[in-house]
Amino acid sequence: MRIQEMGPELYAGMEARVSRRKYTAAPSAEELAELARYAAELNRDADGAVRIGVWADGAEEVFGGLTNSYGMFSGVRAFAGFIGRSGGDGERTGVLCGYYGEQFILKATAMGLGTCWVAGTFDKSMARRIAGVNEGETLYCVSPLGAVPEALGLRERLVKGFSAKRSRKPLADLLTSPEALAAAPAWMASALESARIGPSAMNAQPWRFRLAQDRQAITAYLASHPAAKRVDLGIALAHIEIAALQAGVRGVWTEGEEPHAWTFQAEDVRR
Ligand SMILES: Cc1cc2nc3c(=O)[nH]c(=O)nc-3n(C[C@H](O)[C@H](O)[C@H](O)COP(=O)(O)O)c2cc1C
Repeated sequence: MRIQEMGPELYAGMEARVSRRKYTAAPSAEELAELARYAAELNRDADGAVRIGVWADGAEEVFGGLTNSYGMFSGVRAFAGFIGRSGGDGERTGVLCGYYGEQFILKATAMGLGTCWVAGTFDKSMARRIAGVNEGETLYCVSPLGAVPEALGLRERLVKGFSAKRSRKPLADLLTSPEALAAAPAWMASALESARIGPSAMNAQPWRFRLAQDRQAITAYLASHPAAKRVDLGIALAHIEIAALQAGVRGVWTEGEEPHAWTFQAEDVRR
């Protein structure tokens, strides 16, 4: 698995992205068309294992609408759905939804739109109906899409625990062997930092990383394996590869033998 084509805006998006929960307007028709085009490209890259789509009708109901039953979100007029198509390999699809879905989220971020990965706080049956989720498909997450005020609102800051700043574990806590970092090549350090600032459900940061400097490889894995964390892992894989590509390092992801461990092997890097 690899990213086929990467614009530098995805790299910038990793730094810029924060979860947004208050929306002021729908994306324009042009923005929705551009996002739908990019989603189709990602779906093709994923070889049919995921289906990312964009919907405008019914978005308000999906996020609580006027009754505000999912109180966290307001003003949502469009959303994206991240759907896994298991085809017999259910273990991987959550990871793939995170991997391809985060590329979509970063693209929307780069277009100036607000987003938020949402696995829990939305009307699932309504979203499934709107997205036409079929048998053999799983709707893993959705994200609101739309214009957002420049600054975070009070309620957004409350949800984030008052701090508008990113609160994340130090990198040393996420590495199997923190001492390996000192000798890591620049692209690896940048890739790990990008993974560290990635979003995860409840900001749990369940991913861990192992370096194999001698073979220019990074393994990302889950410390524990609940199904819900697979999307988080996929997001981290996307961040690692985007930072590597930005540093001029191409590579490929393969699934390891241990469960929920994926290894990024850089290609053609001078040792
Ligand atoms: C897979 C996943 C599921 C999430 N589900 C929800 C959710 O149901 N409701 C919500 O308000 N935020 C949800 N979030 C957003 C996280 O709380 C947020 O990403 C995390 O706290 C880090 O903050 P940041 O995205 O602003 O950097 C989810 C994030 C991820 C990655």
